[in-house]
Amino acid sequence: MLNRSRRLRTSAAMRNLVAETDLRPRHLIQPHFVQPQSGSSEIASLPGILRASVEDTVRQVEQDLKRGLASVLLFGVPDAESKTPDGRYACDHNGVIPVAVRALKKAFGADLIVMTDVCLCGCTSHGHCGVVDEHGVVRNDETLPILAEMALRHAEAGADVAAPSDMMDGRVAAIRDLLDANGYTNTSILSYAIKHAGAYYGPFRDAADSSPKFGDRRSYQMDPRNAREGLQDALLDVDEGADMLMVKPALPNLDLIWRLREAQLAPICAYHVSSEFSSVKAADRLGWVNGDQLMFEHLIAIRRAGADMIVSYAGREAVEKGWIS
Ligand code: PBG
Ligand code: ZN
Repeated sequence: MLNRSRRLRTSAAMRNLVAETDLRPRHLIQPHFVQPQSGSSEIASLPGILRASVEDTVRQVEQDLKRGLASVLLFGVPDAESKTPDGRYACDHNGVIPVAVRALKKAFGADLIVMTDVCLCGCTSHGHCGVVDEHGVVRNDETLPILAEMALRHAEAGADVAAPSDMMDGRVAAIRDLLDANGYTNTSILSYAIKHAGAYYGPFRDAADSSPKFGDRRSYQMDPRNAREGLQDALLDVDEGADMLMVKPALPNLDLIWRLREAQLAPICAYHVSSEFSSVKAADRLGWVNGDQLMFEHLIAIRRAGADMIVSYAGREAVEKGWIS
């Protein structure tokens, strides 16, 4: 036999020599849920992930940074009393995210990449990602200035990257314009170019207390039956000034990650979302799978499909336990 591919699989060293893809701490972005109150509590449906005070968040990040995890994505979890129909808490100078960003930047400066979620659902009383009219319709253009102001607050606090996840049309341009007009020309935008509606975000909504109180998000998030639509939206986002593109959820969209990679528009970030993480954890707890190994196989598949970086709840554990380094 002339061709024996097994020759290149004979030892770990040989397999390492010919490995095409790798997963390093630098590829991972750790999500954080930050609350205004002191103390921390574990989120039941996201094992190992906390809703944490600003202080505790800084402490966690310090540990992660020592192990090479140098990027975070922050989600605010405001008190129920701070929520209003227009989500104005999102634009508060002393809201939990501006406070957290200032604290992180004071502690770690340029060593840490701070990304912030830009969306209203955590701050609106109805739980939708934009403002809602008297008919229950989420209003696109009325939402844009609020999102832009939210992003500006984060930039003023020192955020490196604004990550709009709301799925309103035109929000990348609105954010870019306001940031530039205020001198924040170097604050980047990571746009959720492809974000499908559906059941994948369940545990996140527990964590962020951001479920819609009526209806669903299908009038603004994408239909999972569609692929071309997402590629078109990615082009529009880049035209509007997006620096990086998010694809979410990750594993159900490996085809789109691959096609975006081929289109060579911008660096691609994939979001390995809450239920992708939690279902591995649940099966591991039942003793049905090896959770660490399965998690790694999820993440390496996402890298192989073409993602430059991955938002993953497994980041901390992966570097702590040393299954990536
Ligand atoms: C807010 C937002 C959501 C996620 C990220 N940003 C929830 C949603 O759209 O309902 C989901 C992330 C996850 O499931 O881990 N717009
Ligand atoms: Zn939202």
